Amino acid sequence: MNEYQYRAGRILEKINQLASISEDENCITRTFGTEKFMEGADKVLEWMKAAGLNSRIDNIGNVRGKLLCNNPSAKTFVIASHIDTVVNAGKFDGPLGVIMGLDLIEHLRQSKITLPFHIELIAFSDEEGVRFHTTYLGSKVIAGSFEKDLLEKKDSAGITLEKAIVNIGGDINKLFDDAIEEKDWLGYFEIHIEQGPVLYEKNIPVAVVDSISAQRRVEIILKGVAGHAGTVPMSMRNDALTCAAEFILMVERLAVENDLVATVGRLNIAHPATNVIPGEVVFSLDLRSANEDILSSCYHTIKKNCDAICAGRNIGIEWKLVQETKSTSCDQSMKELLVRAIRGAGYEPLLLASGAGHDAVAISKVSPVAMLFVRCFKGISHNPGENVELDDIAQAIGVCNNFISQLINQNNS
Ligand code: HGY
Ligand code: MN
Ligand code: MN
Repeated sequence: MNEYQYRAGRILEKINQLASISEDENCITRTFGTEKFMEGADKVLEWMKAAGLNSRIDNIGNVRGKLLCNNPSAKTFVIASHIDTVVNAGKFDGPLGVIMGLDLIEHLRQSKITLPFHIELIAFSDEEGVRFHTTYLGSKVIAGSFEKDLLEKKDSAGITLEKAIVNIGGDINKLFDDAIEEKDWLGYFEIHIEQGPVLYEKNIPVAVVDSISAQRRVEIILKGVAGHAGTVPMSMRNDALTCAAEFILMVERLAVENDLVATVGRLNIAHPATNVIPGEVVFSLDLRSANEDILSSCYHTIKKNCDAICAGRNIGIEWKLVQETKSTSCDQSMKELLVRAIRGAGYEPLLLASGAGHDAVAISKVSPVAMLFVRCFKGISHNPGENVELDDIAQAIGVCNNFISQLINQNNS
């Protein structure tokens, strides 16, 4: 076993420890601000302190550990990812980037290399947006772009984001103090599983992220008339669910015909019962494309078609765009350093577009961003079957070490 494999083994141990902290004993779920989320955050804080980093949990629940260089006015290079998860999640989506970042910084500190910049490790508190249906809460605070009206967002139990922040000990009046000012950013680097099949198919352990797809998330409420399943003739129904079904199949057809991915991942029937015609359904629509124009034109076509389907079925509609993120380009010079590092490791350097969103999207507003993808089993993610091999983590450590060494040399010269 070489040094990188040994380090990869320790990273996997920590990933497994964090995965054992869950809101559900039958699967991995850690959503923003819950007791189990904070238990996980405390575990990461403990690791950061043990690594000798200047560590704290900020007002939005981000766990932060800083390695200071000798020059107090130096810029900060951030290595980060998220520790919140989707429901019934895998172990690696988020935590891999945080725990690999911890390993890299721990070794930099032990190597006593003279750093020309500060390095901050951040475990973001809410990238997935599961609880409040709006993503990047933690990274928006770091980027200084947290919108105060988000505080009124409510979870399924009617608890506001403001209350959830207070419950974790955060002070909503200090959220902007937690931002890293634009002038202080040197750059941002995130290691993340690919969550797609390309690296698995090509048998390559890592790739450089070229860009991150544009995304729109919509909350849709369809309002029909609840009725008796046994007595209302089919021709007289205003069934909200069959209307949703026609809408969803229309969206699927449009996505297949265009360079677009579309998902209805959450659907709730109000007052569901076997013998009641659904009077109201609430569901999510997640639209993404690497091409901004395609996303925009498909979005407007879907909305127009939705209005026509609802009118034809005499169904009321509420359409709320809850999130819109433009496509994000990763920083050219850092991409080149990563390409050089991957080539140095003996692999063909692939540049991949990310269909998944990442905290790098929020941070790109204030800093150049770079991402490294690590192969995961068959590209499976947002699924307990998510897996990364020890040797791929070892290869990724070597590439990241090389990338950071180049960055240090660049800034020392
Ligand atoms: O939805 C996404 O793309 C990411 O997993 N938050
Ligand atoms: Mn992720
Ligand atoms: Mn995810």
